Amino acid sequence: MRVLSGIQPSGRLHIGNYFGAMRQHLQLQAENECFYFIADFHALTSNPSPADLARHSLDVVMDYIALGLDTEKTVFWRQSDVPEVAELTWLLSCITPMGLLQRCTSYKEKIAQGLSPNHGLFAYPVLQAADILIYKSDLVPVGADQKQHIEVTRDIAIRFNGIYGDILTVPREHIIESVAVVPGTDGRKMSKSYGNTIEIFESEDSIRKKIMRIVTDSTPVEQPKDPDKCNVFALLKLIASAEELSEWENRYRKGGMGYSEAKKRLGELMVDYFKPYRNKRMELESNLDYVKQVLANGAQRAKTVAAKTLAEVREAVGLGA
Ligand code: ADP
Ligand code: TRP
Repeated sequence: MRVLSGIQPSGRLHIGNYFGAMRQHLQLQAENECFYFIADFHALTSNPSPADLARHSLDVVMDYIALGLDTEKTVFWRQSDVPEVAELTWLLSCITPMGLLQRCTSYKEKIAQGLSPNHGLFAYPVLQAADILIYKSDLVPVGADQKQHIEVTRDIAIRFNGIYGDILTVPREHIIESVAVVPGTDGRKMSKSYGNTIEIFESEDSIRKKIMRIVTDSTPVEQPKDPDKCNVFALLKLIASAEELSEWENRYRKGGMGYSEAKKRLGELMVDYFKPYRNKRMELESNLDYVKQVLANGAQRAKTVAAKTLAEVREAVGLGA
């Protein structure tokens, strides 16, 4: 099965990204043909500085390689290195009803957050549809926030096939739900836009310190505590063994345990979890030529598939002669 997903290069990846998306992307490699890319054309819709865009794209690929991307098997590239996708976006735009895009909530949310309402932001779902359709993807693993975009993609594919014949593969979505929302240090959803993240590869010291600062309620040490309302426990759930977790759960409910104890243990577990990948991440940092080579190989492999679909689409719409 061909699995495809895009990752926006908006900064160094955090543990919310890891447990919410990356871990599943990496696991899916074992039994599928995976196509993953850095969505830098999409990132441009929020007008990053040129230096940030370039740097963040490299950060994303280094994070993925360090954490176990199979660079031989999985195709990993930078969206903009296969510009065929921009051409397909145009061809799909011409059959995409305005109403379909006007209903998209992510556009409205981004405007509400203060982004300037540029055309790219409005047309964002068509570019995403082109990403998915140009690689004839079967399955698209994404967070729940992307569900609507996959539905738009399906609508566009069905419409296109209805007009021009059965050319595009109508994809299925695969909502990554195994992990609920990973909370950030302030208890809201961990997100770059809230400044409450713990980056996967920040220093071990800094990871521990941030964990010690996670917001908890003011229940005194001796009183029982509700693990299901605790941000520290929510993070413990991601990495502690089932046995250890049930011990913590008992200790929460019994009382006599301070949050700082749970935080210290969480700090240890988190640091240990990512330790095996840390050296690799540092090595990559001093071997950017290799990193760029991975992207160049990925782009070449992706381009072969994209060019073929684009040729079929061009032919179908009457641009082939
Ligand atoms: P951010 O909110 O930091 O900008 P993105 O929106 O770029 O993160 O998210 C990239 C991927 O990581 C998405 O698939 C998203 O569902 C997942 N993700 C991000 N933050 C979290 C979180 N706190 N909990 C679970 N998954 C998350
Ligand atoms: N819009 C996605 C996000 O913000 C990123 C993305 C771009 C994507 N193109 C894609 C995801 C194609 C899946 C398939 O997370």
